[in-house]
Amino acid sequence: MTAQFPAARPRRLRRTSPMRRMVAGTRLHPAELVLPMFVKEGIDEPNPIGSMPGVFQHTRDSLRKAAHEAAEAGVGGLILFGIPAVKDARGSAGDDPDGIVQQGVADLVAEVGDAMVVMTDTCLDEFTDHGHCGVLTAGGEVDNDATLERYAAVAVAQARAGSQVIAPSGMMDGQVAAIRAALDAEGFEQVPILAYSAKYASAFYGPFREAAECAPQFGDRNAYQQDPAGPVGEALREVRLDLAEGADAVMVKPALLYLDILRQVRDEVDVPVAAYQISGEYAMIEAAAANGWIDRDRAIMESLVAIRRAGADMILTYWATEAARRLR
Ligand code: PBG
Repeated sequence: MTAQFPAARPRRLRRTSPMRRMVAGTRLHPAELVLPMFVKEGIDEPNPIGSMPGVFQHTRDSLRKAAHEAAEAGVGGLILFGIPAVKDARGSAGDDPDGIVQQGVADLVAEVGDAMVVMTDTCLDEFTDHGHCGVLTAGGEVDNDATLERYAAVAVAQARAGSQVIAPSGMMDGQVAAIRAALDAEGFEQVPILAYSAKYASAFYGPFREAAECAPQFGDRNAYQQDPAGPVGEALREVRLDLAEGADAVMVKPALLYLDILRQVRDEVDVPVAAYQISGEYAMIEAAAANGWIDRDRAIMESLVAIRRAGADMILTYWATEAARRLR
């Protein structure tokens, strides 16, 4: 009796590293990585973020240095968040021409503006004393339409400081249209909008709120960010609305727990789709690796490949510089 041998042998294409490399269906390139960065007003030394080992609140100086390193590694872009020295109810530091984000952007454009895309997160939570993403009604709710005026002012201030992409992240209805109109009216019709279109109210933003010092002082963001268990078509609806309002590219956030949404969006639209591998995704892998429970480098690259495979054209990741170096 002769042994039965398999007719098909998929393993043939997996046997050697050159073979696997040749047949790979998902490739990562440094240019599609975007590094989120934090700059803090009034500090003399970079401030390590406890829940995000390896990530810092930068001084203006260390920000330039870190951006320079990212550019040298071939990273495609960076997105800046700022922590002002003084916060108030309306987030005035957000559109102050001398605000920390505006100063940081000008520095970054001078340092790396020709080599990589300098973007800004456009929201109010880093600038408000209550930590919400908009201005509040007397009753303590986030006032959608009053917030739109603030976003428009923040976006224009950022563009004036040199921001090359405006990325609204506050999940207010109509925010893309309001920002587009304001940018156009001020002569910034060439500045694109990357809309955080499908953004979920996630527990995994925890470390970011330490990094950006923007945890809500009361309540939560559930009334404006999407419910992880929300209506089936909600993400696509948000994406379509943002495109109709003039978004040039759209984003899904978080990434790893929302790869299904990312795939849906990628299949639906004809603009670039970004995914944000957020602070909690970073912290999870770093923490497990620090305990010796997973292989850190492999876990990082596997997570990025998964996000790419699910359909992301661009990936915002705190590992951008490190991953870019490894890809070279
Ligand atoms: C809001 C904003 C947040 C993040 C990016 N933009 C925080 C939030 O919605 O609470 C989170 C990013 C991360 O967790 O890495 N301006």
